[in-house]
Amino acid sequence: MTGSAIRVVGRAELVPIAGGGARPYINCDNAASTPALESVAAAVDRFLRWYSNVHRGTGFKSRLSSWAFEEARAIVARFVGADPAGNVVIFCRNATEGLNRLAHRYPFRPDGVVITSVMEHHSNELPWRKVANVVHVAVSDDGRLDVADLEARLAEHRGRVQLVALTGATNVTGFVNPIHTLARLAHAAGAEIAIDGAQLVPHRPVDMKPDGDPQHIDYLVFSGHKMYAPYGVGVLVGPRRTFLGGDPDLVGGGTVDIVTLEEAYWTDLPDKEEAGTPDIVGAVAVAKAIRVIEEIGWDAIVAHEQALTARALARLAAIPGVAVYGGTDASDLTDRLGTIAFNVAGKPHALVAAVLAYEHGIGVRSGCFCAQPYVKALLHVDQAAARAMEERIRRRDRSAIPGAVRISFGIYNTADEVDSVCDAIAAIARGEHRTDYRLDRERGEYTLPGADEAFDRYFSFDEA
Ligand SMILES: Cc1ncc(COP(=O)(O)O)c(C=O)c1O
Repeated sequence: MTGSAIRVVGRAELVPIAGGGARPYINCDNAASTPALESVAAAVDRFLRWYSNVHRGTGFKSRLSSWAFEEARAIVARFVGADPAGNVVIFCRNATEGLNRLAHRYPFRPDGVVITSVMEHHSNELPWRKVANVVHVAVSDDGRLDVADLEARLAEHRGRVQLVALTGATNVTGFVNPIHTLARLAHAAGAEIAIDGAQLVPHRPVDMKPDGDPQHIDYLVFSGHKMYAPYGVGVLVGPRRTFLGGDPDLVGGGTVDIVTLEEAYWTDLPDKEEAGTPDIVGAVAVAKAIRVIEEIGWDAIVAHEQALTARALARLAAIPGVAVYGGTDASDLTDRLGTIAFNVAGKPHALVAAVLAYEHGIGVRSGCFCAQPYVKALLHVDQAAARAMEERIRRRDRSAIPGAVRISFGIYNTADEVDSVCDAIAAIARGEHRTDYRLDRERGEYTLPGADEAFDRYFSFDEA
């Protein structure tokens, strides 16, 4: 059961089209966020009847909510193969917060090194700069992680590398990294490994493997909103020992056993790391999404998403003027997700994204995808061009930021949708689109004057 058999909230909702009329929306922006599964939304509705704050509330609803919250934690742990004895599942807001939390809590030595890579989302790059010495692994010409370069960096900084922090899959080209090979290399060099699973976890099975296994993933981070549960929860899994000592990153209610006017004694994990009221609904939602993913089964999910990807790559390869980053070879998609970045010759990426949206009712994303070093590497932007661009951005002119257009699929997308998207891209490449788009230089975005933006006709806070 995949494709149109998967029911997501708001599938094919009619959206206005430039020049009049409406079309069923095609969402090809799943790498940014997925819609909610209907079954997840229904579970949230059912749960809300029983919702109350967790932990020490004595009312039935509070006890039920506490049970559901902890069940959700156990479901998450099982889903990623985390050993519950040695590991803790910490609920946070999103993958970004999980990575920041880890960066702040990790016991870095003053000379400690984090090895990350050029292909990272900014969320798995910027947090490390604050707390450690960051070393980057290169990518190959077509954008794959250079594993030999990781080996070289590990050897170069041997004895100082404490953590290898790499993405499980990129949010630009969709390339999947061999996380267990990377783990083995990190461990052999005496380091731990953290995997940014924001893209990988929703699309491929992830098994952290038992502690002590050379291929074990020490830390894993991901987000509910990218896996059909957009209710605001993120997940950080890691060894209890890392979070047992020291002060929690955020302090306040729920984190303490004893507070005097002078001192605080931290409580047990995971509460110590979840200051304030947690996102109980988000945790329930992500656990329900996991249940549904398990019911559908990874074989079916991977096969479906690979079929969509192969179809899209073949179609894009045949459109004159379209360049796909990472290539269009679909003969083996084992290490490639349904996330495709491309450009159309002679058309700014932001214009292509705007035409897809305004004239075709297709939701995509364009730009750098919060992965500027990677996009610059893929586009072969040289130093001089990068400097010139930075200068313009500093002057608040974002109109010429190098970037690409990205389409990204989920389990509910269909082959017909892929065809419609590729037909639209082919039309754009032939120059078949309106010419009255307006470029907002400061935002770097194209808009269409007169387009229907009466959003409160579609969603209103006044509706009963
Ligand atoms: C690879 C990767 N890492 C981290 C993030 C950050 O995720 P979040 O927005 O849930 O914090 C994203 C979001 O796009 C991502 O694609």
